[in-house]
Amino acid sequence: MSASTFSIELTDRERLIKAAFEAKEFAYSRYSNFRVGAALLTTTGEIVKGANIENASYGGTICAERTAFVKAVSEGKRSFTGLAVVTDVESAISPCGMCRQVIREFCAQAMPILLVPADYEKQLADGVADGGVKETCILALLPDGFGPEDLDRPRVQ
Ligand code: THU
Repeated sequence: MSASTFSIELTDRERLIKAAFEAKEFAYSRYSNFRVGAALLTTTGEIVKGANIENASYGGTICAERTAFVKAVSEGKRSFTGLAVVTDVESAISPCGMCRQVIREFCAQAMPILLVPADYEKQLADGVADGGVKETCILALLPDGFGPEDLDRPRVQ
C-alpha cells in the first residue's frame, strides 16, 4: 500500500475542511457551548457533514463525527477517504473515545483524519504550514483497536 493511497488531493482537502467549518455552524451545543463540526469525504467525492447535537438528558448527546457517520451510512455511503474535524478552539482537537471506535468501524487504518484549528484561515494567512492542521489516522488514535474483522476470527473450541 503506497502512501499516496491515503493522501487527499489538495482541492478535496480544502473542500473537506471548509465543509467541517460549515457543519460547525449547525452545532446544537446549548449545554456545553462547545461547537464541533465534522465532514466525511466519500470515495465518490461526496461530502457528508455532521455537527454535535446535545440533549437536556446529557447522555443523549451525539458527537459531530458520529452524526456524520450515521448520516452517511444510513444513506448507503460506507466508503470514505477522509475526515475533518473542527471546533472553536485554537488548537487541533481530537475525537473522543466513542467516536474513535466508530471511525475504526468504517475507515481504513491509515485514512487521513484532519484535526483543524479554529484559526485555520489565519494560520494559513500567517504562512503556517497546512494552516496548523494536525493530520492523523485511526491507527494512531486507536492503536490495537477492536474492529469488525476481529469478529471473523476463528474461535478456540
Ligand atoms: N464532541 C464532539 O462532537 N466530538 C468529539 O469528538 C468530542 C466532543 C462534543 C460532544 C458535546 O456536545 C461537546 O463536544 C462537549 O463534550
